[in-house]
Amino acid sequence: MLELNFSPFTQIKTERLLLRRVTNADAPELLFLRSDETIMKYIDREKLKSLEEAAIFIKTIDEAINNNEKIMWGIALKDKPNNLIGNIGFWRFINQHYRAEIGYMLHPDFWNKGIMQEALLATIDFGFKEIKLHSIEAHINPENIASGNVLEKCGFIREGYFKEDYYLKGKFIDTVVYSLLAK
Ligand SMILES: CC(C)(COP(=O)(O)OP(=O)(O)OC[C@H]1O[C@@H](n2cnc3c(N)ncnc32)[C@H](O)[C@@H]1OP(=O)(O)O)[C@@H](O)C(=O)NCCC(=O)NCCS
Repeated sequence: MLELNFSPFTQIKTERLLLRRVTNADAPELLFLRSDETIMKYIDREKLKSLEEAAIFIKTIDEAINNNEKIMWGIALKDKPNNLIGNIGFWRFINQHYRAEIGYMLHPDFWNKGIMQEALLATIDFGFKEIKLHSIEAHINPENIASGNVLEKCGFIREGYFKEDYYLKGKFIDTVVYSLLAK
């Protein structure tokens, strides 16, 4: 059985990026990420509506990390470590099966520069080597071509198509499931 322990919190560095813990000071950037129409277009979740909601979101994530239920990193450029430009993390752990789901988002000013690929590869490596996952899944909206392509670039295989398995705001939405196995 997978035994999760996210304390102390591990920062991850890549060539250009610092993946670090999200703090209260990130609330304005997180509010933007979780409310911007372009970013949220294919993220089938409720948008954040205020700084207060962003602060509550950060607190919830913080508690989940402390309770070893989820882990989320804020993405920043190494030379601007305080400026949150995205986030990435694992959630929905199935400890019995050494499996978790990965999720991520990035500020549109930084799209198409290979940033998420860089963040994903480092996070996946951490997931397999440090968390000891055996497999990682990603659920995406079938119309989210960018996300599917990033996943495929990182070695994920498209394994399933679920019809109308997700209900949001009066509509049933399809899901594509990708997964990656530990080598
Ligand atoms: C999906 C997302 C994270 C991609 O981030 P990114 O940093 O722009 O992606 P990268 O630059 O690392 O791209 C890696 C590969 O993905 C593909 N890709 C990226 N954006 C693409 C786009 N808009 N259309 C088609 N392919 C795209 C390319 O094949 C690229 O490889 P290349 O550089 O060799 O051409 C970003 O578009 C985003 O945050 N979208 C909104 C949030 C979201 O949908 N999150 C995922 C929820 S499941």
